[in-house]
Amino acid sequence: MIHRSHEDLATKNTKLTKVRSPKPFAFFVPFVAKSFVFFVTFVAKSFVVFVTFVATLLLLVFVARVDGIRQPVFARHAMVIAQQPADEAGLAVLRKGGNAVDAAIAVGFALNAVYPYAGALGGGGFMLVRMADGRTTFIDFREKAPGAASRGMYLDAAGNLTRDSVEGWRSSGVPGTVKGFALAHSKFAKLPWAADLAPAIDLASKGFTVSYGFAEQLKTSRSLARDPESTRIWLKGGAFYEAGDRMVLPDLARTLGRIAKNGPDEFYTGDTAAMLETQMQAHGGLITRTDLTAYAAVERTPLTGTYRNYTVIAAPPPSAGGIGLLQMLAMLEGSGYEKAGFGSAASIHYVAEVMRRYYADRNTYLGDPDFVTNPVTALLAPPYITQRRSSIDPERATPSKTLGPGLSASAEHAETTHYNIVDADGNAVAVTYTLNGGFGNGITVPGLGFLLNNEMDDFTSRPGSPNLFGLVQGEPNAILPGKRPLSSMAPSIVLRDNDLYMLIGGPGGSRIPTAVLQVFLNVVDFGMNPQEAVDAPRFHHQWLPDAISVERGFSPDAIALLKSRGHEVREEQGAVAAVVELLVKDKEWLQGAADGRRFGRAAGY
Ligand code: DON
Repeated sequence: MIHRSHEDLATKNTKLTKVRSPKPFAFFVPFVAKSFVFFVTFVAKSFVVFVTFVATLLLLVFVARVDGIRQPVFARHAMVIAQQPADEAGLAVLRKGGNAVDAAIAVGFALNAVYPYAGALGGGGFMLVRMADGRTTFIDFREKAPGAASRGMYLDAAGNLTRDSVEGWRSSGVPGTVKGFALAHSKFAKLPWAADLAPAIDLASKGFTVSYGFAEQLKTSRSLARDPESTRIWLKGGAFYEAGDRMVLPDLARTLGRIAKNGPDEFYTGDTAAMLETQMQAHGGLITRTDLTAYAAVERTPLTGTYRNYTVIAAPPPSAGGIGLLQMLAMLEGSGYEKAGFGSAASIHYVAEVMRRYYADRNTYLGDPDFVTNPVTALLAPPYITQRRSSIDPERATPSKTLGPGLSASAEHAETTHYNIVDADGNAVAVTYTLNGGFGNGITVPGLGFLLNNEMDDFTSRPGSPNLFGLVQGEPNAILPGKRPLSSMAPSIVLRDNDLYMLIGGPGGSRIPTAVLQVFLNVVDFGMNPQEAVDAPRFHHQWLPDAISVERGFSPDAIALLKSRGHEVREEQGAVAAVVELLVKDKEWLQGAADGRRFGRAAGY
């Protein structure tokens, strides 16, 4: 088209020239005019070619982004990321005018019905809160050792470890969840206590559809199969629930109903407490009314650290996770590890060496701050970090063997759950809570409908012997009455230029801090979108056992190179057990990335 109009114009110009220019300019003027037209046409054509080229390039980039990489879920105002369908309980409460804390309580109670794998009425955990006005707190509702607990309680007469810290009624710490939620409610919530329990009561009393994932968890649990009451509650007349079946939980509904009506003390001094004590006594458990009455959830000041222009708000002891995250980030900052690229042997090696150094400290120094003095400041002091970093050989693995052998983690499944919530006002809540093992110790309290934790296994049952997560721990984490076992749970909130930027956390026992670390680095150092950052394969090193566990998805070349640097590399068939849920607030959009390693969902509006 352009070409034709150019010719038309030129012809027209020639005709005009013939009539009006009989003089010396007769040749010159049409020549200039023609040249001008040719020039303009040339520029126009070039411009079109250029624009087409740029548009094609942009399209290619866009298509690559959309087709090649899973995108997070986007929402404008509020978002809940939790194991489904408990996310719906959170959204329902937000829509009724509740804030993020109300929603966190609602999700926490709802998980007891739809995700008893970790839904932890009979357990405990941590809630990290950052309100939009900047108030930040950490609610510690970790279980405590009962009054009758003692240092050697899980050793037999010959001093050998028994299974009692993991299996049976004696494996439970005093549950903290109800007091934890009550403390959060009294400080921050907008809705009445009973309104926050309502969705959970509905789910338990009216029933819900069993998902594929839930059905699989029930079928594969060995701990549930050991307990007669669990067999009654979590099987359907002796047969497994199948995906699509309806599950109704009347005992749980009644327990939740009493807690809603009588308030949180119902669990600690009411009928529920009396029934729990009766069952404990009948089965040789240790928890008494006195333990329940004495239990208190506490507020603690979160730890804070920085990485580049990010502020990381992290879990303080009795979690070891926050110290770990901050220590590992501090060792990595400025090291240039990321220049080798994601998944390269050089970057995995460097990060694994950082992990190894953290776990050596974690297992040696840390315990419940109400019982031991944790050297938090010393562990995070810049000169100490520099010293630890300088001991890393960028080419060779540092053997861990000076501190004794580590056994691999037990084949028993473990399960915790994490959820993130941001409400329309920008209040943010990150909760990790747990029964420790998958379905805790597998014991459902008769008449109460909830499962009990086996959190006592997080203590050092015997110095030098590994626990469920293969952690070889020390004296500061020894068992004492009323003490909280050291945890790896690391609910964290990240600010960018002082604004809310990220909520992150997950289950996975000892693998939590390293998984949270890697997802954070994937976003901040490797420029991945939130979903890509969560999906990417992960690795883990915990000092003992002296090996890097890697998920599928890393290049065989990188693995071979790691081995040649002196690492034992354990290639795992499944996930590296930690499941990270990530919520990023970037500009005005909330971006939710649920981890496909479990059955989480990001939902918002
Ligand atoms: O507090 C801890 O570190 C452990 N009880 C957490 C257990 C856990 O994450 C299990 N999940 N896979």
